[in-house]
Amino acid sequence: MTPDTHPRFFGRRKSRPLKPRQQRLLEELLPHLSLRAVAEDALGDPVRLFDPPPRRLVLEIGFGGGEHLAARAAAHPDWGFIGAEPFVNGVAKLLSAIDEQGLRNIRVWDEDARLLLPKLGDATLDAVWLLYPDPWPKKRHHKRRFVNPENLAQLHRLLKPGGEFLFASDIADYVRWTLAQVRAHGGFEWLAERPADWRTPPAGWPGTRYEAKAIREGRIPTYLTFRKRG
Ligand SMILES: C[S@@+](CC[C@H](N)C(=O)[O-])C[C@H]1O[C@@H](n2cnc3c(N)ncnc32)[C@H](O)[C@@H]1O
Repeated sequence: MTPDTHPRFFGRRKSRPLKPRQQRLLEELLPHLSLRAVAEDALGDPVRLFDPPPRRLVLEIGFGGGEHLAARAAAHPDWGFIGAEPFVNGVAKLLSAIDEQGLRNIRVWDEDARLLLPKLGDATLDAVWLLYPDPWPKKRHHKRRFVNPENLAQLHRLLKPGGEFLFASDIADYVRWTLAQVRAHGGFEWLAERPADWRTPPAGWPGTRYEAKAIREGRIPTYLTFRKRG
């Protein structure tokens, strides 16, 4: 099955009318940052998308409103960040943060991440972040979860040896599912040694919008960090 024939992981791509400023940023700023029109060979070697070349390259999948991505990019100006998100209102929010903070180290894939992954070259990423992916709680929808054998194989191919895959979720069943899928893949080592390792966010964690809502509603986040073997 090609990515184009996959079931969709997300619902509406646009939920609210855009404010005039957001519309202007989509028209004027996004074309400079979007990877959709970038030549295949530059995507194959994605450090070339940044000037100067970044010290580390990170992909965040499903950045939502981009709050976490923008905070990380501001904290690490010498890293490069690629954010993938098909939801137009979320992309517009990220663009506002990029514009307001003058961030120069973010590139945007404003589409389904599954269409980007095959275009990126082997062992090009230092880290992949998948933070609070849509949980798809019903059993018959589990196959829509982003963590699946095909996507894990792509993430494994894209990470450098020793590179990290960070997964966060407030849904215990998705956490168990991810541990099982990663174990079945076999190419990653789960770095946790004690419960504090999955209960405590990684250093410098700015939080995410979805996470704040989950905590307000009494759900508990879990953070899983996996290292690519080899
Ligand atoms: C529950 S939200 C979490 C957003 C954000 N990470 C946060 O924690 O606030 C999941 C996000 O993943 C995005 N998403 C779902 N499937 C995706 C895919 N295949 N590629 C990229 N993003 C996807 C959705 O549009 C949505 O914004």
